[in-house]
Amino acid sequence: MLVLGIETSCDETAIGIVDPDAPTGARLCAHALATQIEAHKPYGGVVPEIAARAHLDRIEDLLTDALKQAGIPLNRIDGFAATCGPGLIGGVMVGAMTGKALAVVQEKPFIAINHLEAHALTVRLSYDVGFPYLLLLMSGGHCQIVLVEGLGCYRQLGTTLDDAVGECFDKSAKILGLGYPGGPLIEQVAALGNPCAFTLPRPLCGDSSRTGCDFSFSGLKTAVRHEIMKRAPDERSPSFISDIAASLQKTIGDILVNRTTKAFDIINNTRIQALVVGGGVAANKALRSRLTELANSRKVPFLAPPPELCTDNGVMIAWAGAERLTLGQTSPFDTRCRPRWPLESLCG
Ligand code: KG4
Ligand code: ZN
Repeated sequence: MLVLGIETSCDETAIGIVDPDAPTGARLCAHALATQIEAHKPYGGVVPEIAARAHLDRIEDLLTDALKQAGIPLNRIDGFAATCGPGLIGGVMVGAMTGKALAVVQEKPFIAINHLEAHALTVRLSYDVGFPYLLLLMSGGHCQIVLVEGLGCYRQLGTTLDDAVGECFDKSAKILGLGYPGGPLIEQVAALGNPCAFTLPRPLCGDSSRTGCDFSFSGLKTAVRHEIMKRAPDERSPSFISDIAASLQKTIGDILVNRTTKAFDIINNTRIQALVVGGGVAANKALRSRLTELANSRKVPFLAPPPELCTDNGVMIAWAGAERLTLGQTSPFDTRCRPRWPLESLCG
């Protein structure tokens, strides 16, 4: 079976093709992606109108590219999946309408995909991991700890009360003058700095009165701003910036480890198959190694998709579509696009 997936919810236009019946190493058939980073760079963040127009401009060429990579004609595709939310609505509509149009013309099923669910399931393309698993979903718009109990079965254990973790990387990078997108740039610069140079806050980490394992990142970004403002612009040397970046990355690692440890305690007797990460921030190697240590100490495998499948891509949408199509789950053509679409609302 071949499933094509379309991703247009933020600043990547992407089309992937997967074959869920192939062995794990051979499931990915096409991974076509056009990033819009250059178009948004001058604004230091994603501009929704620019994003929607760019998706429209690029989607046709990406379809040609994806089919070429897979070496198949369009009529070999058995199902068309597209992100229908959550995300920037103009972009989401471009991808969803394209997916529906292809499905109608080819007389094949359409599968509406929740972008967060796609991040949650991507790991199963590369590893044969069963349910349940503990998922740390960390992206530009979301930061959640979820017990993934099955396809469409998600129990949220914690979420952010303010900024998402990727947002914290992006906003801090802007304050540090590193540019956009912040996560990969902070990771690069942090490798040169001293992670113990600055003591930054770890909001909610000492709070045993709360029952969940929620996050809060907005104070961290403000603390970075305070450290920067203590020095005049000409005193902000590259080593000073690297030290702040390294301290920030370490602090984020401390917070993620603290909150995930609490999640392990909450699920207590549930025998999970793995600790899994997903979303763009999961591409960060330093954070992956911190979470690997935690998983080792809890005697469960740590599993992460390859970095290029952590950040937004079409393969993850195709994979989530394939998981649903395998169970005979398809979507009507009047499925609406949603700017907000919480993961837990999928639980039937
Ligand atoms: O999942 P994603 O591509 O898009 C959303 O669904 O939001 O995540 C994008 C986020 C951005 O905030 C970006 O800065 C962050 O992921 N990111 C990283 C890294 N690569 C991407 N954060 C930390 N380290 C990285 N290597
Ligand atoms: Zn994403």
